[in-house]
Order: sequence, then C-alpha cells, then structure tokens
Amino acid sequence: MSEIVSLFGVTKIFKDFWGKPKVKAVDNLDLQINEGEIFGLLGPNGSGKTTTLKLILGLLYPTRGRISVFNRPPGDNLIKRLIGYLPEEDYLYPYLTAREIMDFYGRIFNLSTRVRKERADYLLQLLGIKGYENRPIGEYSKGMARRIGLAQALINDPQLLILDEPTSGMDPIGAREVKDLLLELKKKGKTILISSHLLADIEDICDRIGILYEGKLIATGEVKKLLSPFKGESNRLEKFFLQVVGKAKEEKGEREKKVAPKKKEKKEVKIIEEGPDMELLKKLTKK
Ligand SMILES: Nc1ncnc2c1ncn2[C@@H]1O[C@H](COP(=O)(O)OP(=O)(O)O)[C@@H](O)[C@H]1O
Ligand SMILES: [Mg+2]
Repeated sequence: MSEIVSLFGVTKIFKDFWGKPKVKAVDNLDLQINEGEIFGLLGPNGSGKTTTLKLILGLLYPTRGRISVFNRPPGDNLIKRLIGYLPEEDYLYPYLTAREIMDFYGRIFNLSTRVRKERADYLLQLLGIKGYENRPIGEYSKGMARRIGLAQALINDPQLLILDEPTSGMDPIGAREVKDLLLELKKKGKTILISSHLLADIEDICDRIGILYEGKLIATGEVKKLLSPFKGESNRLEKFFLQVVGKAKEEKGEREKKVAPKKKEKKEVKIIEEGPDMELLKKLTKK
C-alpha cells in the first residue's frame, strides 16, 4: 500500500510578536497515512491536531522536518485538485446560499458548468441540504453549516479528504450520517484523514489512529489492535485514550517535579453563609 502523506521529524513552533518561540504546537512528529485508509488524529484541545492538518495542506510551514503529500511538497499546485479540506472553523461566506457556495468552489477547480451542477445536486442531496440550498448559509445551524462545509470539500471529487472535527456541533443522527458517508467514500478508494476530540467519531470508522498530546504522538496503530486489551468492554477507545493521555500527563508531572518541586497548593473552598439580603427583599416586596 502506498503512502499518501508522510511526515518525518516535523516540528512546528509558533513565535510571539517579538519572534521568540512561544508554543511548540507539533513536536518531532513521524506519521504516515496510507492509500485507502481512514486515519483518525485524536487528542485533547490544543494538542496540535489542527496545526498538523494545516502543515499537511501547506497552509503552515514546519519549523523543522519534512512533509510529502502524493510525493510532492505540501501546497504544491499539482496536488491541490486531489485534496478536499474541511477546516475547523466555519469559514464560508455567510451571505451566499449553499448552491452559490458549491458553484463558487466548483469554479475554483475549473469544473465545467455541467459538472458543477451535477456535483452540486448530488452532494446537496447526499448531505441532506436539498430544500435549504437557496438560503444564505449565515442562517444555518452549526450542524447544517458543517454539512455544507463537507459538501464543499467534496466538490472536486478528491482522492484525499482532510477533515478537521467534521461532526462538531452535529446532532447524533447527523454525525452518524456523516460517518456512514465517510465509510462509503473509503469503499470508493478515497483516503481520509480526520481529526476529532470526539472519540465516538473515531472508534467505529477509523482503520488507524494517532493520539497527540502536547504536539507529540504518544500512541499510534490499528484501532483493532490498540483496543484489543479492552475486548468485550464498553467505551473502549475512551478507556484507551484516558490511559495513554493519563500516562503522558503523569510523566510530564514527574519531569516538572524534578525541575522545580512545586508546593502543593491547598484549594480553599469558600462557603458563603450569608443568605439573601432580607432587608432589601422586604423593601422591594413591600406593598
Ligand atoms: N497561529 C498560532 N499562533 C500561536 N499559537 C498557536 C497558533 N495556532 C495554534 N497555536 C497553539 O498551538 C497549540 C496547538 O493548537 P491546535 O493545533 O489548534 O490544537 P488542536 O487542534 O489539537 O486543538 C495550542 O497551544 C495553540 O494555542
Ligand atoms: Mg483543532
């Protein structure tokens, strides 16, 4: 199986206004995504998922390391048409209708009028937007906006689909539909890289996962193998996730203790004993 995306020793350091290193968002990351698989990038908030995806797309440049996508540098013009991307934030122009958005992105990919219309019809139908397609998307709910984002990401029939938190803000039915759609796309031979902090999104569709913690890959492998120690149990991915992230947190705590042993702070809980201001209440309710 060939590799579609490869990262070797990739580090991304964000600098502050003065050019001083501020955050190591991605830390010496090695990662390979194979053709035809669904790969899930997991991790707590701020662990570097979005940054990793943006590096792969060529929207950010790595501080160190090497990245290749379809054996080309990220962001290369030749490979742009092979990739579909759903960003984490809602980014679509709110005054355009879903239909107009699809047409706009279709034009970016130089699709003919006929293909644009056919694809838009198909995707609007597939993602349950038909019937709402002539409303400005600023009026849509978060879940609906995600669906249009996904339809947009598919307009160029991409071979590699990069989705940043695709089901965030969706109701369970919407999330299930999206997951089924991704499985269908996989059957058609597409490669899908998906980031999520929602473990349920990942467990039942991904072939392999990687768990990021503070920019480092702390676990990676086939979902089946990683979860096999929890056979027969419920919430297996949650258990695995808490185990590895918990361990990483503990190790970090140990390291920090060695550097500067912190005094244990006592957390004081203040109980406010005074009741409501009866005087005021009396005044206000006096007839
Ligand atoms: N443009 C930026 N400038 C400075 N710091 C950033 C920037 N983007 C992300 N970060 C920081 O990098 C870390 C990783 O962020 P991100 O990749 O968005 O994490 P995730 O997607 O896993 O929640 C966080 O500490 C975040 O605050
Ligand atoms: Mg993110």
